Amino acid sequence: MQAIQDEIKQLTDELNQHNYRYYVDDAPSIPDAEYDRLMRRLQELEAEHPELALADSPTQRVGGEALSKFNQVTHLNPMLSLDNVFSEEEFNAFYKRVGDKLPEAPAFCCEPKLDGLAVSILYRDGVFERAATRGDGTVGEDITENVRTIKSVPLRLRGSGFPPLLEVRGEVFMPKAAFEAVNDKARAKGEKLFVNPRNAAAGSLRQLDSKITASRSLAFYAYALGVVEPETWPLAASHFEQLMQLKEWGCPVSSEVKVCADIPTVLAYYQDILTRRSELAYEIDGVVLKVNDIAQQQTLGFVAKAPRWATAYKFPAQEEITLLEGVDFQVGRTGAVTPVARLQPVFVGGVTVSNATLHNADEIARLDLREGDTVIVRRAGDVIPQIVSVVLEKRQSEAKSIKFPENCLVCGSPIEKVVKQKKLKTKSHFLEQATHKCSGGLKCRAQLKESISYFVSKKCFDIDGLGDKIVEQLINVGLVNNPADLFKLSYDDFVSLEGFGELSARKLFDAIQDKKTISLERFVLALGIAEVGDATARELAKHLGSVKFIVECPFEALLLIPDVGTDVSREIRDFMDNDVNFNFIKELYNEVNIKPTEKGISKYIFEHSKMEHYVVNLHIPTIAKVTASLLSDVFVSLEDLFEATFESLLSINGLTDKRRKALLKFISEQCNREHALKLELVLKKLGLHWTQNYDGEDEISLVESFFTDKTFVLTGSFTSFTRNDLKNLLESKGAKVLGSVSKNTNFLIAGEKAGSKLTKAEALGIEIWDENLVKEKLSE
Ligand code: IVH
Repeated sequence: MQAIQDEIKQLTDELNQHNYRYYVDDAPSIPDAEYDRLMRRLQELEAEHPELALADSPTQRVGGEALSKFNQVTHLNPMLSLDNVFSEEEFNAFYKRVGDKLPEAPAFCCEPKLDGLAVSILYRDGVFERAATRGDGTVGEDITENVRTIKSVPLRLRGSGFPPLLEVRGEVFMPKAAFEAVNDKARAKGEKLFVNPRNAAAGSLRQLDSKITASRSLAFYAYALGVVEPETWPLAASHFEQLMQLKEWGCPVSSEVKVCADIPTVLAYYQDILTRRSELAYEIDGVVLKVNDIAQQQTLGFVAKAPRWATAYKFPAQEEITLLEGVDFQVGRTGAVTPVARLQPVFVGGVTVSNATLHNADEIARLDLREGDTVIVRRAGDVIPQIVSVVLEKRQSEAKSIKFPENCLVCGSPIEKVVKQKKLKTKSHFLEQATHKCSGGLKCRAQLKESISYFVSKKCFDIDGLGDKIVEQLINVGLVNNPADLFKLSYDDFVSLEGFGELSARKLFDAIQDKKTISLERFVLALGIAEVGDATARELAKHLGSVKFIVECPFEALLLIPDVGTDVSREIRDFMDNDVNFNFIKELYNEVNIKPTEKGISKYIFEHSKMEHYVVNLHIPTIAKVTASLLSDVFVSLEDLFEATFESLLSINGLTDKRRKALLKFISEQCNREHALKLELVLKKLGLHWTQNYDGEDEISLVESFFTDKTFVLTGSFTSFTRNDLKNLLESKGAKVLGSVSKNTNFLIAGEKAGSKLTKAEALGIEIWDENLVKEKLSE
């Protein structure tokens, strides 16, 4: 029994120590897996001997029985709030008020103002006893079980020197990453989203079922001492030192806490935190400035419900209320239609905002947005302004619902709905994202304009001097119908444009003509295919090697390119199959010079372009990789496969009845047959068919020779080449080189110190060559 008790104590201490290293020191000391292992062991022991579990056991953080209501608790000392200042003048006035009452100029302890909920935590003899919300400052709610689940809250204080009764005050909050994760999950399940991390923290903490709280990744930072008993207990003389003392006792304290000695340093602190606000792992809404010296604090005392010695210097609000005047639908380069909210201008996050993105139709539905609604707008850091929610209480009865247009407002073409599955950062969740696309392609002026701006941008053709205004002019007068037309413009065309003189016309004309030479990679990027960014364009250029191949490469063959999946492949094919785009590419190809010269398909793609790959990608029900490989051994081509009969399939070992049936059904359908035969034809035309020879640049000689299809085994060492060189040499002549001797081996090449392979080959009567003979044969 004693041994078990000791082990429980040892595990509890060790786990709490790791917790401290992780949450307070921010320096994890063991891998998660090891932590989990220790945790499981402790859980086991506690399950067998519940009476031995310690008060500070980390196993208690998983949550317990649900409550029917929260009990009320009266704070031992009221929990105060803070006065606010919103500008430098207001801060100066605060500083003066404070300074006037003190014989010596105060220094300030400066802290981030965490955007969460204030809590009070009591430790008796160092053990976590009770936690409560602030409530009205006098009476709060007992949330002990919920706060116990927060991993950064110590269940037992560390070290020594803490008073018998200690109240730690601080903020419970939800880090931004945890907030995103909670909302991602809710979105995937179609549940209601939390509006911001503060609400998420509040919603998670005020749960009668502490198991829910445990699942929510809340965090805690201490920012003050509360009640201390006995009152005479010796404490540090400054607020900053008291925080550091709390940290030593195991309570996490923000690493952004600093002492600033004068006004300029405090203002610099405010500015610094403001600029780094978006990089912090948690939301803050300002900084808190506290007179650092405790004696000075006592001199200053309190007014009503707030201390005179502290203030919150608030950042400009990131959320404001305004009116939604209407919704515009913007058409982007690739045709994506994005709804944009037109707002009554409002000052938020430090700038005046009059537009906010609405992302897509789902977002409008989620917000249940109506024209004329009062909405909460949020602008955080450099992030695009967003509508957070509708203030339903203010909705007018006549508020009109918002309809997504069926036709493009610019060109009138039908708008198509595309549903894509996006994988979320949080492991197993998928999100269905519906986007709307204008089907007009380059016929749509909006798409044309965006395409041209993109086409001339730095990473594409890099043409200077073609600003939005000029592009619009060129489109409006009908001089440019696709980006390739830019190269056909003459000096006279430019002179005729409004606002152009001889000099400026000449300059722009030269700038365009100057950029006629381009790499294949940039050429592909400039086409502006959806989902094809720099990296994909590079891979396409590298592996397909020419415009012709990129244009003609079938969907299934595109999948052979590293990192090209079905979405990208589908976008490329859709683009190429559109007549207007096809013409654009043809015209562009005629206008420019591709340098370095186009090479053709890479050896990698040729070698991976095997029948098996295409059989898999026919998506024949029940037939995946293994069966596809089986079929590829028997049938030489897709055509051959589509000629298969019941009898011919019967003779294939390992093909189950079920799969045979599925295959016969599949090949009997005309559309499947047509698709496969067409695919095979294109592969042959491109030289990508497995029955063909590679004719790209790094060509290997596949001319019939003595070596073609002969099997070699190498043993021992050679003087003129390494074993590997010799292997490559033989393979380049069409031979197969294997690792071990069998009766199917044609030749054994034996060098110095040949071993058991030689003995075995001799026994099997296999022809044996020495180094000289192989050199002779190779040079023949
Ligand atoms: S000190 C007597 N420090 O702000 C002073 N409060 O607006 C009590 N808050 O209820 C508060 N970060 O929830 C303090 N570093 C910080 C804070 C902070 C956030 C919250 C706290 C308080 C509210 C007052």
